[in-house]
Amino acid sequence: MASKTCILNFLALLSIFLPLTQSLHFNFPAVFNFGDSNSDTGNLVAAGIESIRPPYGEIHFQIPSGRYCDGRLIIDFLMDAMELPFLNAYLESVGAPNFRKGCNFAAAGSTILPATATSVCPFSFGIQVNQFLQFKARALELLAKGKKFNKYIPAENYFEKGLYMFDIGQNDLAGAFYSKTFDQIVASIPNILVEFETGIKKLHDQGARNFWIHNTGPLGCLTQNVLKFGTDPSKLDELGCVSAHNQAAKLFNLQLHGFTKKLQGQHSDSNITYVDIYTIKSNLIANYSRYGFEQPIMACCGYGGPPLNYDRRIVCGQTKVLDGTSVTAQACNDSTEYVNWDGIHYSEAANQHISSQILTGKFSDPPFADKMPFLLNLKF
Ligand SMILES: *[C@@H]1O[C@H](CO)[C@@H](O)[C@H](O)[C@H]1NC(C)=O
Ligand SMILES: *[C@@H]1O[C@H](CO)[C@@H](O)[C@H](O)[C@H]1NC(C)=O
Ligand SMILES: *[C@@H]1O[C@H](CO)[C@@H](O)[C@H](O)[C@H]1NC(C)=O
Repeated sequence: MASKTCILNFLALLSIFLPLTQSLHFNFPAVFNFGDSNSDTGNLVAAGIESIRPPYGEIHFQIPSGRYCDGRLIIDFLMDAMELPFLNAYLESVGAPNFRKGCNFAAAGSTILPATATSVCPFSFGIQVNQFLQFKARALELLAKGKKFNKYIPAENYFEKGLYMFDIGQNDLAGAFYSKTFDQIVASIPNILVEFETGIKKLHDQGARNFWIHNTGPLGCLTQNVLKFGTDPSKLDELGCVSAHNQAAKLFNLQLHGFTKKLQGQHSDSNITYVDIYTIKSNLIANYSRYGFEQPIMACCGYGGPPLNYDRRIVCGQTKVLDGTSVTAQACNDSTEYVNWDGIHYSEAANQHISSQILTGKFSDPPFADKMPFLLNLKF
């Protein structure tokens, strides 16, 4: 009994120190983020391309907040861990957005490959990188004019000392499944990575030195893909996810990982970290109940009820006449029981779990746990 209390006290003590020790490790003055809806904090909405209505944002911001989630995204939790404020979207113009600690160029629906006439989002990776170049040039211009703007834009050396984060590629693969065969998709991966490399090189040329590259998640586990491509049970894998999508994601990640190694070899002046989001997300979906979830694949906010509660004709929060009746795609009672929020995006509860896994450093290459203070390495 006494020893149990002692361990519990120790754990309580540990939990007091953990946030502190983590933030000590991350001393990036700013973050510049590039990606899709997994990390969009308001660009697509600010651009006027889509609107998001309640119940988006309900669990944390109480308003939709430009995020495709009921609350915070992985990037929000990571910013918290770095003791930095949430990132403003580059395209946000109202409310005096502050870019002192960084800027977010991620836009929902974006791809690495250039957008086409049928793309959801025109802000593909190359455009996001160009937006960054414009942002940096403009910031330096303003800094040269005196101190007046210092509160709102990064200091000059933040561009070198800052962290550049990437979470993009999911839409290149997921979108391709509507018009291409599996073999064609796999064959296109090297082209996608050439485009990615072009953008990363531009950023490096501009002085970026710290890179965190998230790989892509198990796309085949997204409710939308299970509904569209998984009606035949023989197409599902052991997680109940579409195998072809997950296979494509794994092959993409393998090449992305190789690319990050190559890049690190070419740039000894930089730190390039590959973060294995796929393993974290697939573990969450496979072992959901262990992590306190009840639904690994069914959408919380949607229409149609079990087993998927998703109907692609009506998005979360929308009211529409379907088959002669007016219906609303509503949220479930408790989104913290669901891994999936709206059929395409993870819930805040899932994002929080994923972020805490990222922050262990164990899913990174190189892992960063070894650079962490000793407390984090303790095993129970
Ligand atoms: C890379 O990381 C190492 C160890 O954390 C650090 O000493 C070094 O300054 C970093 N390099 C750059 C370019 O930031
Ligand atoms: C689920 O948990 C078990 C036990 O820890 C582990 O062996 C397995 O790899 C996990 N599943 C996935 C897909 O990560
Ligand atoms: C949500 O809660 C209400 C009231 O407690 C209950 O009537 C309803 O059945 C619940 N819905 C679901 C999907 O659990």
